[in-house]
Amino acid sequence: MTITFIGHGYVGLVSAAIFADLGNKVWVIGHTYEKIENLKKGIIPIYEPRLEELVKRNLQAKRLLFTLEYKKAIPQSSIVFIAVGTPPKATGEADLSVVFEVAGKVGQNLGNKYTVVATKSTVPVGTNKKVKEIVSSKKPKKAKFDIASVPEFLREGQAISDTLTPDRIVIGTESKEARDLMVRLHKPLDGQIVSTDVNTSEMIKYVSNAFLATKISFANAIAKLSEITGADGTRVLEAVGLDKRIGKEFLNAGAGYGGSCFPKDVKALIAIAREYKYDFDILKAVEQINYDTMMDIAQKAKSLLGNKITGKTIGVLGLAFKPNTDDMRDAPSIVVINKLQEEGARIKAYDPVAMRNAKKILKNVEFDSDAYGAAKDSDILIILTEWNEFKELDLQKLKKLMKKPAIIDGRNIYDPTILKKMGFAYKGVGR
Ligand SMILES: NC(=O)c1ccc[n+]([C@@H]2O[C@H](COP(=O)([O-])OP(=O)(O)OC[C@H]3O[C@@H](n4cnc5c(N)ncnc54)[C@H](O)[C@@H]3O)[C@@H](O)[C@H]2O)c1
Repeated sequence: MTITFIGHGYVGLVSAAIFADLGNKVWVIGHTYEKIENLKKGIIPIYEPRLEELVKRNLQAKRLLFTLEYKKAIPQSSIVFIAVGTPPKATGEADLSVVFEVAGKVGQNLGNKYTVVATKSTVPVGTNKKVKEIVSSKKPKKAKFDIASVPEFLREGQAISDTLTPDRIVIGTESKEARDLMVRLHKPLDGQIVSTDVNTSEMIKYVSNAFLATKISFANAIAKLSEITGADGTRVLEAVGLDKRIGKEFLNAGAGYGGSCFPKDVKALIAIAREYKYDFDILKAVEQINYDTMMDIAQKAKSLLGNKITGKTIGVLGLAFKPNTDDMRDAPSIVVINKLQEEGARIKAYDPVAMRNAKKILKNVEFDSDAYGAAKDSDILIILTEWNEFKELDLQKLKKLMKKPAIIDGRNIYDPTILKKMGFAYKGVGR
């Protein structure tokens, strides 16, 4: 099948490369000359494990093609996926301007072939219907098309395996022809197909992310309460998660959720509810707890430093919102570091892959070339991302390098007993 992806971010590029690897001819349309020229050479604009090799292999096989021109790709495609960003507006609603802009260009360039215009971007209920109106208003008279909502559930850092073996593939469309084509394309993937109407499919995506964010904030609230009451929050959550009805995934306390999806999708669902006059209180609390959780990390650093942060050097390990990604969007590190800087701290930081992006966002931070560099001469070290390489650090070496041996373990990666025995002042989350 010949298909097109518009957008070559974490969703567009991963999905495009996988469908090409499965034998399809896949066009990827971008809007930046330099990025498209780089992609043609196999230079990818994001970090995602194993993606570069997948892109290169399919470039070589001439199954993966990059272009800026809609007219090259759209007329020959059976399916066109819209996979552009939908960032939040100041009001919390999703900004759909790029989705609508590219929908218009798709419409203008439809050929004689029947085409399914499928939205992979996360969009509020009703968006695909607007996409349909836009495509209809722009298309040549003879062009035939249907729309489908095919939300994406991949996780950055494991996007390739998630796309190959998804828990479910949601296909929302009112057209049998579109559904059949979608089912055919997704057949080689190992995931249960859930067929719905368009509105339901759009809703499923937001509800999935909002629920996961709720689980994380719930875990963080329990961790806080455990700290106050003297219970071991990590053991509480571990035991609770063993109940199959609850499940242990996403029930870990930490430094809060971040990334390009949870914060914006929680905001967007609150905004959708508001539009329909439903006050989504539980999600507002989820957001507040998440913010408080990040602030609490800064507060723990402050209290370990005897409430005097001004002039102190704080080492930060991990800047990306989670391991195995370079994505800095809404990373808790931004909130925590800004707060510490506001209070007068000097920040040294290290992340295995996110520093290039972090440098564009964080100001007045000394970026070090490894974890030991960030720890050197620090009064305190804060772990904000649970990268594997931080789990096996030489703690004796770390202790010698630091001005004072003190760790805030924002992801609970160390054993408190061992650290305390070694002479570290230690604070985790919920224990
Ligand atoms: N990142 C994730 O983990 C994830 C998971 C599931 C769903 N989603 C959703 O998928 C969508 C895309 O997310 P992402 O993380 O891939 O975003 P991204 O920011 O990594 O990529 C967005 C892409 O859109 C392209 N783009 C922007 N403006 C354009 C224009 N005018 N014309 C053509 N292309 C344009 C950008 O060049 C970029 O390639 C969002 O709606 C997001 O919520 C993301």
